[in-house]
Amino acid sequence: MCGISGVVQLTGEVGPTLYDSLKRLEYRGYDSVGEASISDGKILVKKQAGKIDEVESELRISQLQGQVGIGHTRWATHGAPSQENAHPHTDCNGSVAVVHNGIIENFMELKQELEAGGHRFKSRTDTEIVAHLVEENLKHGTGFVEAVRQAAKRLSGAYALALICLAEPDKIVCVRKESPLVIGAGSNANYLASDIPAFLPRTKNAILLEDDEMAVLTHDRVRLLNVATGEEVSRNPVTVDWNVETATKGGYPHFMLKEIYEQPFTVRSALRTHPMYLELMASAISRAKRIFLLACGTSYHACLAATYAFANLAKVEVTPVVASEFIDGYAALIDNDTVILTVSQSGETADTLTAVRGAKDRGATILGVTNVMGSTLTRLADVYIGQNSGPEMGVAATKTFTAQYSVLLKIAIALAKKRETLSHMELEKLESALDGMSEWISSTLATQEESVRRITERNSDRFSLCFLGRGISVATALEGRLKLLELSYLPAIAYPAGESKHGFISVVEDGYPVIFVAPHDECYSRIIGNVMEMKARHAHIISLVEEDDTQVAGLSDETILMPKGIPSSLTPIVYILPLQLFAYYMSVTRGYNPDFPRNLAKSVTVH
Ligand code: F6R
Repeated sequence: MCGISGVVQLTGEVGPTLYDSLKRLEYRGYDSVGEASISDGKILVKKQAGKIDEVESELRISQLQGQVGIGHTRWATHGAPSQENAHPHTDCNGSVAVVHNGIIENFMELKQELEAGGHRFKSRTDTEIVAHLVEENLKHGTGFVEAVRQAAKRLSGAYALALICLAEPDKIVCVRKESPLVIGAGSNANYLASDIPAFLPRTKNAILLEDDEMAVLTHDRVRLLNVATGEEVSRNPVTVDWNVETATKGGYPHFMLKEIYEQPFTVRSALRTHPMYLELMASAISRAKRIFLLACGTSYHACLAATYAFANLAKVEVTPVVASEFIDGYAALIDNDTVILTVSQSGETADTLTAVRGAKDRGATILGVTNVMGSTLTRLADVYIGQNSGPEMGVAATKTFTAQYSVLLKIAIALAKKRETLSHMELEKLESALDGMSEWISSTLATQEESVRRITERNSDRFSLCFLGRGISVATALEGRLKLLELSYLPAIAYPAGESKHGFISVVEDGYPVIFVAPHDECYSRIIGNVMEMKARHAHIISLVEEDDTQVAGLSDETILMPKGIPSSLTPIVYILPLQLFAYYMSVTRGYNPDFPRNLAKSVTVH
């Protein structure tokens, strides 16, 4: 998730406008910043790695000259944060500049083709190919708008792009496919941005671009076109009545709720991991004699869920370990044949890094999954994959859990392919279910938020709660418990449901709330017995069940209805959503701020 912005204005310089809009988009990414404008017959580019204020002190980006300009604040996906990889990117001659948010999946093929045709690349990003594709089209005599349209038709993946070009210096051309892009219609100036807050102080008139549409902005006109046909599209601006603070949270009262609702997009983006990196990880894992999954907190729960996926899909045994226990418990087993698959949103968690360093010193191969390119984990890892969720402002991890698990699942599937442990039909079924993931997430959020809110209100005075699940749902239950615990300060409990009779059951008395995560998977018939055990002790049963469930639902006091037909290995991504909402509403109902739970930091850099 990066932020892009742009402005075409009749008078004045673009620098102050672009700088201000990038500051307002900083929540979308902040590892590098850049701007480009057209001035005195040249494209001027200022860009550098670092936060916006650092780059401003060094390069004075707020003083960029010209009436047409584009800007970018980056959250690295392809290529580490550096000056070369910062946007905007230019073509061979510096006559086209582009900023991009998203992932271009076929960039390697296009890059090879362009290099073979003599184009010289300066960065390791997927974005730069767009500047060269447009340059190539311009060489063949097309105008700027058509050159961008033809280039966009060759891209697969997700992108919001904005380009400027020396040959037509009065305009910006932008394109949208599956990444956000909004136009701000002003007077004597028009704007574009990833999100409305970027231009809100300048105009409240927004034109929402749809997928596969492009826009051509001059200072006095906005023209929308369909990318496939080139035909004009007509759409009136809407008036935005948010203030800047509400707009930064996308209209949601808290970042946490906004981030919960981002999951249809962040999961899709995490599932887009390039096959080359998956293959590298799958090869390292299939050569290893011992494989450990290592992480803390929520990231550990993603690893725990992945343990089931590795076993059931790829028939590979992996050991999940809480990072702070790793060296004490397992140092004696680590050698050159060990692979450590480490998961850390921040890539800076002290316990995780200590364990990784300890394992590296003993000869292990380190694989990393992280949200922060350029973090210490990416520097320690032999291979790493970005989870592509964008910055998470809420202290409690939500969208990063589902993204981490999505990446781990893709690694397990790559391994299953390599080891031929799934039939062609099983693989096809799984891949088509992955294609439907965003839809399951969206529909669950849309249909269940209100019922979760009401359940939370009815249970807000509880002194404790318990979460139970079986199989892969143990990880979901543990993560649901962690969210509730850290945001509402309730001493919640979570267990494998089968284990609950070995101790926990003594706590249960009349009305004690027990939440069952009960998808209709291979554990379903066994979890019914556990629900009955709790029912017999007069527990108050809240269950997450498929929408046509009768048995567990029939034993429950309250139910949250989940989509039918989600394969077992995918359930953590969808079943965690109501539990995130439950923790959110519990925190709000009990009068706390879910974005800032007490005593917790987003990145724990102490032991
Ligand atoms: C819980 C949470 C923490 C982190 C943990 C690891 O909501 O956010 O439990 O998951 O501190 O952090 P990373 O993933 O950055 O290593």
